[in-house]
Amino acid sequence: MEGIYTAHRAAAPLYLDALRAVRALYEADIRRGGMTAPYLREVRDALQGVDEAAPTPPQPTARAACQHLDVALMLARRGALEALGRALLPLAGHLAWQACPTYDPTEVGERFDRAYAYAELLGATGTVDREGVVVGILLLAPHTHYPAHAHPAAEVYHVLAGTACWRHGRSPWVRRPPGARLLHPPHTPHAMHTEAEPLLALYAWSGEVATPSHMVAPPSAHA
Ligand SMILES: [Fe+2]
Repeated sequence: MEGIYTAHRAAAPLYLDALRAVRALYEADIRRGGMTAPYLREVRDALQGVDEAAPTPPQPTARAACQHLDVALMLARRGALEALGRALLPLAGHLAWQACPTYDPTEVGERFDRAYAYAELLGATGTVDREGVVVGILLLAPHTHYPAHAHPAAEVYHVLAGTACWRHGRSPWVRRPPGARLLHPPHTPHAMHTEAEPLLALYAWSGEVATPSHMVAPPSAHA
């Protein structure tokens, strides 16, 4: 039992390294400007104090989608955002993968339920909790349709691995490669569809982060 506890606590510096890499990425984006900068400032500010934080790594949990994590991390490590990919690699066995509490498996379908997972780095189930901000990673299996969903939090995604099709609102589907940044304003429906590669993407929520995402279209809708 002590061994498990020790290994669990040993993940704290790994989480801090990942959060520092996230902060560096956001700082670079803010310096560059663009549409995501105003949203990332709030998240970057929340990340400023993590070096002095007393991190508490979550108890690791896995979901079926994690069978694709090794491939996704390998792609991320050599992708456009490789610094973050390298920082995430040692965290592979220490993440608390979960499913959105509003995604009822009987409604979203078993196939989607097994193909989707996310893990928080900063947030109530991450290693450090900061009010009004959540940072995590999303993992989607290859050939998966993530139906249109929405949430009151503003969301910025950075694609770490996997070229997938993304759509927000009524815009056309667009293929987004690793390195792409996407902004989903509050309550804007958005959807993804993976191709041959798993998708690994960093997300940052700000604003009303306590309300989870909800589906706004049936899982079969991909048009
Ligand atoms: Fe979202």
